Amino acid sequence: MAATLVLAGCRQDMHDQPKYKPLVASGFFRDGLSARPIIADTVARGHLDEDPEYYTGKSASGKFVDRLPEAPTAEMLRRGQERFGIYCTPCHDHTGSGRGMVVRRGFKQPPSYHIDRLRQAPAGYFYDVMTNGFGAMPDYRGQIDPADRWAIVAYIRALQRSQHAALADVPADEAAKLKGGSGG
Ligand code: HEC
Repeated sequence: MAATLVLAGCRQDMHDQPKYKPLVASGFFRDGLSARPIIADTVARGHLDEDPEYYTGKSASGKFVDRLPEAPTAEMLRRGQERFGIYCTPCHDHTGSGRGMVVRRGFKQPPSYHIDRLRQAPAGYFYDVMTNGFGAMPDYRGQIDPADRWAIVAYIRALQRSQHAALADVPADEAAKLKGGSGG
């Protein structure tokens, strides 16, 4: 009986093990922090991120790139449209006018994507706004991975085009239908 009590007293459960909670102070390390700094040049698995243009939207000289990393495919645009619908329409709405439901409920109104300044903004700028946020807009780097951010940029370009297309942008056979009025 006595032995059982002594042994039970020594038992240490996993929920009660010695450990540091995140970012508490520690007298053990000289810098007073319990968390150890990341060793320089550490790369998390799957995050080599070697191509700065792809991962930041900027060239080595710090200028925004003005093209998509690859020519947009229908699949990429569909993916971009879907992600845009999930993450951006609550504020920017489906047309990019900036009158989304959250805005109609009182959130700051973003500018329309169809103003000249944003129509002329380079592709990398949109990527950067999603990656780092902009003013009152939070960043989406945690929610949207780089490939999807580029797909959204491609879709925003299509949205912008949709509001400013000229007849010259329409393929010849379709244009003929529009001119003749015989199409649907
Ligand atoms: C919670 C609301 C909200 C969501 C969601 C949101 N935005 Fe915004 N966005 C804003 C607001 C507000 C601004 C204007 C910020 C300011 O001027 O302080 C803005 C500005 C912008 C701008 C213009 C920046 C400029 O130069 O004026 C772009 C581009 C943009 N957002 C893209 C996106 C994209 C792409 C998404 C989806 C991934 C997104 N936003 C999701 C609220 C939002």
